[in-house]
Amino acid sequence: MATQQPPLTPEDQLDRVVAKLTAEMGRLDGKIPYIATEGRYVADAGTDAVWWTNGFFAGMLWALDSLHPDDRFRALARAHEERLMTRYQHFSAIDHDVGFVTLQTAVSDYRLTRDPQARERALLGATVLAGRYNPAGQFFRCWNQPGRAGWVIIDSMMNLNLLFWASRTIGDPRFANIAIAHADTVMRHQVRADGSVYHIVAFDPATGAVAGHPQGQGFAPESAWTRGQGWALYGFAMAYAQTGFVRYLAMAQRVADYFIGQAEAHQWLIPADFAAPATTARDNSAALIAASGLLDLAHLTNTPRYKVAARRLVTALLPQLDFDPARDGIVPGTTGQYHDEGRGEENQTIVYADHFYLEVLMKLTGHTFTVWALPPKE
Ligand code: GLY
Repeated sequence: MATQQPPLTPEDQLDRVVAKLTAEMGRLDGKIPYIATEGRYVADAGTDAVWWTNGFFAGMLWALDSLHPDDRFRALARAHEERLMTRYQHFSAIDHDVGFVTLQTAVSDYRLTRDPQARERALLGATVLAGRYNPAGQFFRCWNQPGRAGWVIIDSMMNLNLLFWASRTIGDPRFANIAIAHADTVMRHQVRADGSVYHIVAFDPATGAVAGHPQGQGFAPESAWTRGQGWALYGFAMAYAQTGFVRYLAMAQRVADYFIGQAEAHQWLIPADFAAPATTARDNSAALIAASGLLDLAHLTNTPRYKVAARRLVTALLPQLDFDPARDGIVPGTTGQYHDEGRGEENQTIVYADHFYLEVLMKLTGHTFTVWALPPKE
């Protein structure tokens, strides 16, 4: 008679993830991965040097390097970092995602190795992000398309630590001051009273006045795109950790309470938008981004219910995970945007979901290195 297996502990899961990523590395053949289809990363996302996901695999490699500090993971992470430096030859295409990419490559490299070249690369990334600051609106510009000079997207909260890191590293508060001004603008205009968030707020770039709420990656401008909820929750928790400003903690908690209430209502399986009609579009990456932020909030506020919620989110998706080392990609069920319109990014196995799964496992097993949530001192 078959006996029921106990669920895998976070330690078991971490072992399987390390084994799987090690096998994947050997199959990448120089490619920077994005979506795994039928168990294989095929396309090379790195051919578009500015694409926002290009740092996620390197970020996982640096996390693994913190567990096993030998050349195994480091050499490939550096190769990705070097390759992605070509983005500076496409300057007009670089947007605020320079933060996503730089934190996971050069900043992580420098934090773990103290390599002087990585430090220079990381400071270059921070300088480019700071150069996007608009003093009239007190935000940094997110996207580059014409007519979007005043658009701020909630994802930008994940980039603030590049600025905080730069200020700390060179002992100059100007980068941190930009991060604080941007976070205050997001706090005032992007988080609703119920804890849901706008994906996009359009400001008049000349005056900073709110000009509208364009349709973003969620169901509708007034809905609650779940990955954006995750970015806000985690982003404000990190802004609080960096500054000690309780206004950011209050924002993180407001978004966290909304997320937990919605997750309960959805049996802890996260759709692409909480406020959409019944949909088949899921977002397991949103679950994991939120779980990672909730673990930080639990730690920062000594509040066990945030940790309980984070564990529930992980447990709910455990039966879906692919731990087979012969196949690429671990976490299925991530949707690029609610209105997919043929992009082929609905319910896919996308590299950033794996990244946040690894990060959550490292936090649950007591490992201290994380790519995003910088400690106050290193
Ligand atoms: N651009 C970040 C995201 O799609 O979540």
